[in-house]
Amino acid sequence: MSQNLRIPGPTPIPPQVAEALARPMINHRGPEFAAILRHVTERLQHFFQTEHPVLGFPSAGTGAMEASLVNLFSPGDQVLAVVAGVFGRRLAQIAEAFGLRVERLDVTWGQVADPATLAARLDSLPDVRGVLLTHNETSTGVTQDVRALAKAVRARRPDMLIVVDAVSSLSCVDLRMDAWDLDVVFSGSQKGWMIPPGLALIGVGPRAWAAAETARLPRAYWDFRGARRSLEKWQTPYTPPVGLYQALDVALEMMAAEGREAILARHHALGELTRRRARELGLALFADPAHASDTVTAISVPDGIDGKTLIRALREREEVIIGGGQDRLEGHIVRIGHMGYAHEPEVAAAMDALGRQLAELGHTPPAPVSARGPGPSAAD
Ligand SMILES: Cc1ncc(COP(=O)(O)O)c(C=O)c1O
Repeated sequence: MSQNLRIPGPTPIPPQVAEALARPMINHRGPEFAAILRHVTERLQHFFQTEHPVLGFPSAGTGAMEASLVNLFSPGDQVLAVVAGVFGRRLAQIAEAFGLRVERLDVTWGQVADPATLAARLDSLPDVRGVLLTHNETSTGVTQDVRALAKAVRARRPDMLIVVDAVSSLSCVDLRMDAWDLDVVFSGSQKGWMIPPGLALIGVGPRAWAAAETARLPRAYWDFRGARRSLEKWQTPYTPPVGLYQALDVALEMMAAEGREAILARHHALGELTRRRARELGLALFADPAHASDTVTAISVPDGIDGKTLIRALREREEVIIGGGQDRLEGHIVRIGHMGYAHEPEVAAAMDALGRQLAELGHTPPAPVSARGPGPSAAD
């Protein structure tokens, strides 16, 4: 039996992608790679819902965080970071490491930011040049309403630079880069894109291109301008991860065949399934149900059960691999990934296994409604 990999990334890859990864190497400066890059870029633009360039850099998602900041800002610039978990905090910390003045809008973990609060905060900070948002906070299983947040920002400050971390949501949860007027949107190959880790994908809009011309933070490897000049010739500035591009070409072909809307609907159904199954097991969802993520479900570990023991039992006895809580949530929540190459049977099987291992550890689920006997009669 192979592992049922249900962490929120890296995610499983389809057999067609595994085959693509095993192909012979090709010349990254030859016509075959240029054709792949062109094909991939056009399809990425479709999934980013943008007409603007989508750049690829060989790196983890964190590289895209750094790239977004160094290309847009100058030392001492003020940015407002919306921090609702580990990844929002990481973006704020990287900004600080580069000498930006970082203001934080702290959001209770498990909740989303309120657009009116963001707007009011901006009113009190006239010098802010950029707003940093996390679309899907993978550490808490919450999806922010980026459309509403961006609208609130633009209503006050039309020229604000809006940077969106969509590492664990793009292609799975609706995000419209152009229609919502977002300046930089980035994602990571190991999440919704059905390929291994190692390729950061970054959409860059016109306001961000203008900012990149004057930004003074040091940058070399991450310079968007060089990447764009190369992309115009269907090349990359440095040696690209050729195998990952071959894999992405195949994955995007599959995604195009399924259709963007169908993929969003599949993820919503998987999110609903996971949440329903968790509730049936008598488990509390960590995230605000109105904003629960369709790519990762965070579940509170019941009192008296140790989260790490549960995760180990699932791995050793069921070959189901789930994520734990990060930072202050370690031991308190578990996270079930259902993004990318994810379908109902594997997700349902993981939830079955979760129920079995919780029972082994002494957790009793509530009796199903039909087994609870008749409810109170009107006379009671
Ligand atoms: C929302 C979010 N942002 C950023 C990252 C960082 O990506 P990486 O681990 O590839 O550096 C992750 C990784 O899980 C993420 O989920």
